[in-house]
Amino acid sequence: MCGIVGYLGPRDPKEVIINGLKKLEYRGYDSAGVAIFDGPSVKRIRAEGKLKNLELCLMNEKFSGHLGIGHTRWATHGVPSVRNAHPHQAGGISLVHNGIIENYLEIREELLKRKADITSDTDSELVAHLISEEVEKSKDLFQSVKNVLARLRGAFSILVIWDQEPDRLLAFKDGPPLVVGLGEKETFVVSDVQAALQYTKKFIYLDDRQIVSVKGTQLDIFDAEGNAVAQKIQELNWSSEQVEKQGYSHFMLKEIYEQPMAVSAAMAPHIDSETHAIRLAKVGFGKSSHDVETLDVAEDWKNTQKVLSEIERIVIVACGTSYYSGLVGKYYFEQLARIPVEVDVASEYRYRKPVILPKTLLITISQSGETADTLAAIRMAKEMGATTLSICNVKNSTIDREAHGHLYMNSGPEIGVASTKAFTSTLTVLNCLSLALGKIKGKLSAKAEQEQTQALLKLPSQMEVALAYDKYFSDAAEELKKFKGFLYLGRGVSYPIALEGALKLKELAYYHAEGYAAGEMKHGPLALIDENMAVVVVAPSDDLLEKTVSNLEEAKARGGKIISVGSGDNHRLKSVSSRYLPMPVAHWSTNPVISVVPLQLMAFHLANSLGHDVDQPRNLAKSVTVE
Ligand code: F6R
Repeated sequence: MCGIVGYLGPRDPKEVIINGLKKLEYRGYDSAGVAIFDGPSVKRIRAEGKLKNLELCLMNEKFSGHLGIGHTRWATHGVPSVRNAHPHQAGGISLVHNGIIENYLEIREELLKRKADITSDTDSELVAHLISEEVEKSKDLFQSVKNVLARLRGAFSILVIWDQEPDRLLAFKDGPPLVVGLGEKETFVVSDVQAALQYTKKFIYLDDRQIVSVKGTQLDIFDAEGNAVAQKIQELNWSSEQVEKQGYSHFMLKEIYEQPMAVSAAMAPHIDSETHAIRLAKVGFGKSSHDVETLDVAEDWKNTQKVLSEIERIVIVACGTSYYSGLVGKYYFEQLARIPVEVDVASEYRYRKPVILPKTLLITISQSGETADTLAAIRMAKEMGATTLSICNVKNSTIDREAHGHLYMNSGPEIGVASTKAFTSTLTVLNCLSLALGKIKGKLSAKAEQEQTQALLKLPSQMEVALAYDKYFSDAAEELKKFKGFLYLGRGVSYPIALEGALKLKELAYYHAEGYAAGEMKHGPLALIDENMAVVVVAPSDDLLEKTVSNLEEAKARGGKIISVGSGDNHRLKSVSSRYLPMPVAHWSTNPVISVVPLQLMAFHLANSLGHDVDQPRNLAKSVTVE
């Protein structure tokens, strides 16, 4: 949550910072601000609301300096307002912060006793005061930052400038991500590579408790004790065009349409292009995420087989949409590899003192690779002796770096706050992983393996068919808006898709929507049914279809309006439905990837027709780096 950008170099810092913040707005969008050198002093400008408000304030502003910092906020301490917007200032110090300072109350009391002039309700401003007090005495910014870092508890990434040093940017992190972008005689320090991708492809991912000092063109990185650390430069292959809308009205719509391509990219490394056999590529168990690209595929597959052959149970931990993909994964692993699986929400898992038995593989799923609870879960599981494997979209993100093994969604940047392509790519990766495990464990015949990989290879073109429902829901939105609530139902592998469909509608259209296992209807939710309740059901033609249709008959008999996502020309399902949406007939394991597409489109169009900001829904941020 919150996005930060720092720039030191020959370009116009105002332009670089605003461009960067635009790419980070997904992280928070309730206020924004910049502090940039203008002559010998630092000028600060802040605005409440979305970034465009700040842009308006900056329209006629010129800055003669070459150093500045900026921030887009998702409020934790203190309401969204100009007063609480970053950068915060104390003495000559200006600072932006992403995260939470846990010991802020004690620091605040201490500062108030010393009569500090605290002007906001934030925890962040207090850090500016601490650094300012230190630098007043020592006149040494690096030493001051180092001393203050030692005092802070919590999770934070912070950028600092001092009005006495117009060519020096300091940054430090403990928790939320921070990356250094390296250009020609210029340096960027940003929350996410996307913020600097249009200027450079060379990045250094910072580890926790590291301090960055940029003085002119000189970059140094230190640990918390002040010892210099090696700088590992990574070259990214993401292009800056990928983080633009490319003609679509919304990032979310673009990302929905990118799904056929994204699932192809997710499966491609793991299916041998000639034999169509499954073999996981470059998982790099025991290797750093920085090195996986350089691994030999055959050698690495041997290592992966060795590690996975030892595994007797799986625990999947994630949040939100990623958690729902884990629920689908449970069906895959249990059916295809006959391995017992537990799936848990990371915020619960990390605090419930879980029992981790020997030979457990803990899989974390995270698009951003930065979600605080998921990160805490993987750290805990590692300490308790589990072998860990991460499925991330952002390579070298913190979770990716901490895991023993590494798999990637390969979806390309996902900017819309509501996750779409990362979800379907993850299902595809989980499918490949469960096939690999089934093969290693001797549970998957060669014939079944071929059947499965054929089903996967057909998936992109089947998703194209599902995308045709774009127009359908753009037309249907007016009528669908009349419902008071939405109940999403599914059985088996379609149950998590019902949960995901309901989440998409909640977060985008702000309707009350609930996902339920269809078999649970009689145990309570049936009481909700009347003519104002839409029942959205995911019911492909599989061996659970008959049972689902019986549940729908009961809902229909009580006035519920049924919208069903089925497969092929299914008369039985059609007959109980007010609206029947046939998807291509597919394999049971790929059905979920196809049937989620119309649910994404439905949520998108409903929200859009209500005039909501689809890419940046209220109260949310894409990367949840605080608890
Ligand atoms: C919903 C959504 C969130 C994320 C969740 C986990 O559309 O995007 O529920 O799935 O915050 O995020 P990651 O996958 O980055 O750990």
